[in-house]
Amino acid sequence: MAKSPSVATNAAEEMTAFCGQNSLGQDVERILVPEHSIQDRIRGLGQQIDEHYLGKDLLLISVLKGSVLFLADLMRAISIPHEVDFLATSSYGASTNSSGVVRILKDLNEPIEGRHVILVEDIIDSGHTLAYLTRLFRHRNPASLEIVTLLDKPSRREVDIDLFWTGFSVPNEFVVGYGLDYNQKYRNLPYIGVLKPEVYQFTSD
Ligand code: PRP
Repeated sequence: MAKSPSVATNAAEEMTAFCGQNSLGQDVERILVPEHSIQDRIRGLGQQIDEHYLGKDLLLISVLKGSVLFLADLMRAISIPHEVDFLATSSYGASTNSSGVVRILKDLNEPIEGRHVILVEDIIDSGHTLAYLTRLFRHRNPASLEIVTLLDKPSRREVDIDLFWTGFSVPNEFVVGYGLDYNQKYRNLPYIGVLKPEVYQFTSD
């Protein structure tokens, strides 16, 4: 008979359980936000969104790629009708930090005029991406435009952003997991973890 998967009851057990299944977990120094805390917080955010947008034409916009896990769980925590759309962006390398210029790789499929829009992000760092996107989308005349981010790194902020909902405020550490990557990996970790410095210090790309 197949064994049932073990249920992690705390952060240490959660990391041990995941390390046993996948070597990615071994590159994590410690868990910053355990899986159960992420899910609890998302349930709370879903309830708030339900109350705020009851009876409104709600559209969630996911900024690829990091926000896809958050979007998938947030959608299921929201019980009112809503639609989703996706946007892909790319920064112009180092110049982004000073210019705030963001390149749109994939625009939205549908117009947002007259609709109640929530931009769904995994993390706000300098704020340049969201500052650019909110400027861009306001010109498209949505009925309202708000931001929900799972993580916020306020110590890194370079431009002011009006965050409507935040999952967790985190310190300035190299976080991966639950959608966040390093070199496009680690997105599938079910928790937010701090990457061991030796993983990124000795990697050239
Ligand atoms: C991350 C995150 C935001 C942006 C935040 O995306 O998803 O879009 O950076 O940074 P900022 O506040 O300094 O602008 P990233 O460019 O890492 O792409 P990804 O989502 O595909 O991982």
